[in-house]
Amino acid sequence: MFSRIVRPTAGLARCLSTSAQNNAKVAVLGASGGIGQPLSLLLKNSPLVSHLSLYDIAHTPGVAADLSHIETRAKVTGHLGPDQLKAALEGCDVVVIPAGVPRKPGMTRDDLFNTNATIVATLADGCARYCPEAMICIIANPVNSTIPITAEVMMKHQVFNPNKVFGVTTLDIVRANTFVAELKGLDPARVSVPVIGGHAGKTIIPLLSSCVPKVDFPADQLTPLVGRIQEAGTEVVKAKAGAGSATLSMAYAGARFTFSVLDAMNGKEGVVECAFVKSDVTECKYFSTPLLLGVNGIEKNLGLPKLTPFEEKLVAEAVDELKASIKKGEEFVANMK
Ligand code: NAD
Ligand code: LMR
Repeated sequence: MFSRIVRPTAGLARCLSTSAQNNAKVAVLGASGGIGQPLSLLLKNSPLVSHLSLYDIAHTPGVAADLSHIETRAKVTGHLGPDQLKAALEGCDVVVIPAGVPRKPGMTRDDLFNTNATIVATLADGCARYCPEAMICIIANPVNSTIPITAEVMMKHQVFNPNKVFGVTTLDIVRANTFVAELKGLDPARVSVPVIGGHAGKTIIPLLSSCVPKVDFPADQLTPLVGRIQEAGTEVVKAKAGAGSATLSMAYAGARFTFSVLDAMNGKEGVVECAFVKSDVTECKYFSTPLLLGVNGIEKNLGLPKLTPFEEKLVAEAVDELKASIKKGEEFVANMK
């Protein structure tokens, strides 16, 4: 099954070199932030995007003016504050949401819940009202709760489409590919490791037995490698020493995911990405597995590949935390006024 995985070859270069003329309106909500700015730069650089709509509660006029001078075809518009959310979202094909506070050393992603749940719920409400047909890609943490929040808000508006709401976990895949390539002396652009589960600590489950090309690690290397992938976000948070979490690698990963969604919407076949979505693959209501993307979002959930006993144990260890984070997100929306 995993031989079918089509990795964007040679990183993002493919989307800069394509000659396809496409006409997508893509919105970035949280566009002025540490992720939002470099992500917007990468999107502005792509011929897949014809209109780049930048929304934030601060600084969007400046970010939009700056990006609008770049000699690529995407029209750039800046939208500031809730009064301009409607204009930012109307007519959108894809909405990417990195709005929200990042971690500081010592915090878990769940510690961001109190602030980010409200931000994501507000923006999901905007999507439900103004672009209910758009693909919604959530970067804001804690992803294991912000996706159920988005889904529940859209359900309240009766516009939830499970094939179009994605928790962006691509950074976990990007990291796994990089770390495996470092250890094995491979080109990281040619390595593909599916990462399933969720996006926090032990819910991040790299499936190294399904890596393409095939790689083998003895037990004394496998456990630390899995641990490094699971704690890679914390590695960056610690290194940034209070100045936030991963921004540049996340912008890369967010752009990779957005381009895959756009490629599939444009009819490209065989586009596969992992993402945290509504799922019946395990007992968790939301779970990340490889997804075949198509014109209307998820065309097919490719499910779980054959797991080793070690990987089965990782899944079993993730289930309780995932279920609790999902429930927390659902209850937040149920209790919203
Ligand atoms: P940041 O603080 O640099 O930027 C956040 C931006 O969101 C700011 O510009 C802020 O003004 C904006 N914002 C706040 N409230 C808003 C609202 N109601 N509407 C619109 N915009 C609003 O943070 P960052 O480093 O860009 O990180 C953003 C989020 O992404 C964090 O929650 C972080 O944990 C998460 N993140 C997720 C992943 C992942 O793999 N999914 C990776 C890295 C970071
Ligand atoms: C990451 O994995 O880098 C993000 O989820 C940010 C974080 O808080 O670690």
